[in-house]
Amino acid sequence: MTRPTLGVCYYPEHWPESQWAEDARRMSALGLTYVRVGEFAWSHLEPEPGAVDATWLRHAIETLASAGLKVVLGTPTATPPKWLVDSMPDMVAIDEMGRPRRFGSRRHYCFSHAGYRRECIRIVEALARRLGDHPGIAAWQTDNEYGCHNTVLSYSASALEGFRDWLKERYGDIGALNDAWGTAFWSMTYRSFAEIDLPNLTVTEAHPAHRLDFWRYSSDQVATFDAAQVDILRRFSPGRLILHNYMGRFADFDHFKVAAEHDGATWDSYPIGFLSERREREPEHAAHFVRQGDPDFQAFHHDLYRAAGRGRLWVMEQQPGPVNWAPWNPAPLPGMVRLWSMEAFAHGAETVSYFRWRQAPFGQEQMHTGLLRPDSSHDAAVAEVSSLVADIASLGTFEEASQAPVAIVFDYPSDWAWRIQPQGADFNYSDLIFETYRALRRAGLTIDILSSRAEDWSGYHAVFVPGLFAWTRETLKALSRFEGVTIIGPRTGSRDRNFRIPDDLPPILPEHILNARVITTQSLPPEVAIDAGGRNGHFIRWFETLAHGDGVEPVFNTPEGPGLLRQDRIRYLAGWPDTKLFDRIVADVAADTGIAITALPDGLRRRELGSWRFWFNYAPTPVDIRRHGAKKPILLDGPVLKPAGIALEQRG
Ligand code: GAL
Repeated sequence: MTRPTLGVCYYPEHWPESQWAEDARRMSALGLTYVRVGEFAWSHLEPEPGAVDATWLRHAIETLASAGLKVVLGTPTATPPKWLVDSMPDMVAIDEMGRPRRFGSRRHYCFSHAGYRRECIRIVEALARRLGDHPGIAAWQTDNEYGCHNTVLSYSASALEGFRDWLKERYGDIGALNDAWGTAFWSMTYRSFAEIDLPNLTVTEAHPAHRLDFWRYSSDQVATFDAAQVDILRRFSPGRLILHNYMGRFADFDHFKVAAEHDGATWDSYPIGFLSERREREPEHAAHFVRQGDPDFQAFHHDLYRAAGRGRLWVMEQQPGPVNWAPWNPAPLPGMVRLWSMEAFAHGAETVSYFRWRQAPFGQEQMHTGLLRPDSSHDAAVAEVSSLVADIASLGTFEEASQAPVAIVFDYPSDWAWRIQPQGADFNYSDLIFETYRALRRAGLTIDILSSRAEDWSGYHAVFVPGLFAWTRETLKALSRFEGVTIIGPRTGSRDRNFRIPDDLPPILPEHILNARVITTQSLPPEVAIDAGGRNGHFIRWFETLAHGDGVEPVFNTPEGPGLLRQDRIRYLAGWPDTKLFDRIVADVAADTGIAITALPDGLRRRELGSWRFWFNYAPTPVDIRRHGAKKPILLDGPVLKPAGIALEQRG
């Protein structure tokens, strides 16, 4: 049982000290609990090399704490100061074209640079020693949005050196690497690890196994970079939560690995900004939800990061109004800030924190709204935060997220693998996962995301494993013991860890699990779709021809072969379903497993939390939720939900 809390991101170094106490008083009066500070403050903490002075920060923390607020302190390593970069010019990341990423914004560092790591350890330790035992500090945030602005892969000299060592460690001798990668192709045999370069600036595409290993190496650098900070914080600031703020639709490193060392996971939710970035792909959808955000996008990330955080989730940055960074930046529909926040709680979030307290009148983000305008008057979101505070109080304690009936397996390396070798211009792993998620949400289901390292799926009725490029030991173990229905494919098990097609052809499962093989694959351009039979819809983007033996039956066929195979409790899906076909597959699985589903209208979404069922209206028009299965008594805004309306009922 928890009582959700709210917070805000605050930059005391942007404002005169004389303003801090009044800011703190107003935050507290608004009903906020947490304030995140410090994550970009390095040059203020150490204006000259070695001259660390955190007095101002201590004063800020004390000011906030004496107003009853709890502080989340960010380590400042996303913004190394100019003097530091000048003293170590090779610490910056190098982009794929070989260009250095210069000082003048943020994240101008390479994860592999040993000297920069030492500097990070030094500043984090200096901060933790000075402030770590301060009772006002409740939590730490390491760095800020690892990988933002495309900074995970760096093609620097330090990365090259680190990569060679990493390969040596992994393969032992160069012959093993040559075999594993298949360097016989295009005469790429290496005689020593010292001959291996980074996979950029090649004439045409570099070897996929080479690229995948470099991606794995780079992801590991994020994890070890972070772990060094965690070590220090645990030592000098025991008892505080350690968190990081991840991003939306971002999979460049293995978040499960980083979060494993933390006390939960948080993410930064900018629903309208994210939607605006999808305009080209889904223009009508983007127009329909232009002021609300995609109705499934936030939910998906709450579920993904709740999994990464092993049940503990926060939203560290919540959009409060127009942002500055999307192609267009409209204002949210009135009520959406309240809806997004409550939706996070419905997915098990403990805290939602707004970005930011006051709009900055200077700098790159001066067009980004906050809770306050630059003149300190209330901006639009404040009224919504106030009404949310009242809603939370009226609901009392919230139950914790319980196990959902269905789950989807998510695997970061699969995202890398299919970006390295998409084979079809629109084949994207994260999109495939998200389309699967959307289909389940359209059916009114509550969903869990599982890591590909989860080895126990018990309790689920059905688990979806789309696009998993190589089986993990844990997924195979879970699959073989699972009593529910598993839906695998397309492209699942189609490579081994070294990016090779398995000798016996995909999806390399033992015959008693699935007696079938993928014999041909094709990617489908937009004008080609494969009919899945009458009213069932089509396969788009991707289709596999399947051969099968005894014990396997097609659930339905297409003119080019089976669309879905079934062997006992395993299903293999031959391609990428369109919306209609996805809905049909979900309906079949529900019928097979006894899960209750309800086809929800566009924009109406629901989610179960313990004994409650929440309803959210993302649509620009009102909807009567009684027509979609809601029963009285209904709390909050229902039963006729206006746009941005929220309702809540007891399940059962
Ligand atoms: C996030 C970032 C913040 C701020 C915000 C603006 O990506 O963590 O520092 O830049 O976006 O929307």
